[in-house]
Amino acid sequence: MLIDTYGRVATDLRVSLTDRCNLRCTYCMPEEGLQWLAKPDLLTDDEIVRLIRIAVTGLGIEEVRFTGGEPLLRPGLVGIVERCAALEPRPRMSLTTNGIGLKRTAEALKAAGLDRVNVSLDTLRPDVFKTLTRRDRHRDVLEGLEAAREAGLTPVKVNTVLMPGLNDDEAPDLLAWAVENGYELRFIEQMPLDAQHGWKREGMITAGDILASLRTRFDLTEEGSERRGSAPAERWVVDGGPHRVGVIASVTRPFCAACDRTRLTADGQVRTCLFAREETDLRAALRATPEDPSGAPDADADAEIARIWRLAMWGKKAGSGLDDPTFLQPERPMSAIGG
Ligand code: 5AD
Ligand code: SF4
Repeated sequence: MLIDTYGRVATDLRVSLTDRCNLRCTYCMPEEGLQWLAKPDLLTDDEIVRLIRIAVTGLGIEEVRFTGGEPLLRPGLVGIVERCAALEPRPRMSLTTNGIGLKRTAEALKAAGLDRVNVSLDTLRPDVFKTLTRRDRHRDVLEGLEAAREAGLTPVKVNTVLMPGLNDDEAPDLLAWAVENGYELRFIEQMPLDAQHGWKREGMITAGDILASLRTRFDLTEEGSERRGSAPAERWVVDGGPHRVGVIASVTRPFCAACDRTRLTADGQVRTCLFAREETDLRAALRATPEDPSGAPDADADAEIARIWRLAMWGKKAGSGLDDPTFLQPERPMSAIGG
C-alpha cells in the first residue's frame, strides 16, 4: 500500500505521458519559451507500463488516469492503455485531455480498454476559446467530446476553469449545454500552477461565486456529503436530477485530508501532491534494472522500485500549503506535473 504518516492511502495514480501540449491555456502555459523535456529523459512506453504494473500489482493502485500536457500527443497511448487493461487486477482507466484529436482516437481508446475521459473546455464561445488557449481549436474540442460520448467513454466529464473577465459569466450557459449534451460538468477553481506564476488569490473565481452564478438559472441541491469520499468534486443535483454538476474547490475548500493520489511525471518522478516541491526519482531505479527483453518481470528489481515509491509517499505533506504565508509555487507548471 501507499500509505502516508497521516494515514491516507493512495489508490489513484495520475501518469503524465508528455509535458507537451497543442494549446497554451493562460492558466497553465506561457505563450512561448517553455522548455520541453528532452526525449531521452521521458519514460518509454515499456517503462511506463512497468511502473503501472508495479503500482497495480504491488502498491494497491486501483485507478490510473493518464494526463499530460496533452496525453493524446503521445504516440504510444493506445498501446499503453491496452497493456494496462491486461494487468491483473485490471485498473480503472481514464484520460484527462483537451479533446483535440479525440475524434480520431476515441474508438481505438475504448477498444483498448479505456473507461472514461475528462475533457477540458472552458467556454462555448470560439473567440473566448482562442483568447484563453491561444489557439483556434474550439471546434475540434466539441467534435472530440461528441466522439467520446459516441464511443461510450462515459460518463464524459467536462473540466472548466473560470477566469475573471474572460469566461466568468458563462457558468449557467455551460451547465445548460452540458445537461443538453449529456456531459457531466465540473468547475475547477484556478490554482497557482501557471508557468508564469501569475496566479492571484484576489479576483479568482471561487466555488462560492460559481454556485451563486449557477443558482441564477438552476435549482441546485447538495448531494449528501458522504458521497464525496475522496473525490475532490463536490456535487450538486441540477433541477431535481438526474443531472449533476461538480465544483472542485482546491483553493477555498481543499480536500487534502482525503487525498488518495500519487503522481508520476513524464520523466519518471513521483510527486506526492500537485503542489509538492520535492520529487522522487523512479527513472534511475528503472534504468538501473532494465527489464529482460522477453518482458519477464524481475521481482527483486520491481520490489526495490515499489520500496522507493512507498518511501516517497510516506513523506507526503498534510496539505497543499496554499494557505500558508510561506507558500511557494512548484517549479514545474501544471503541464509538466500532470493534472
Ligand atoms: N488551475 C486549475 N485547473 C487547471 N488546469 C490546468 N491548469 C490549471 C490551473 N492552474 C486544469 C485543466 C484540466 C485539468 C487537468 O486541470 O483545464 O482540465
Ligand atoms: Fe494544454 Fe491542458 Fe495546459 Fe491547456 S491546461 S495548455 S490543454 S496542458
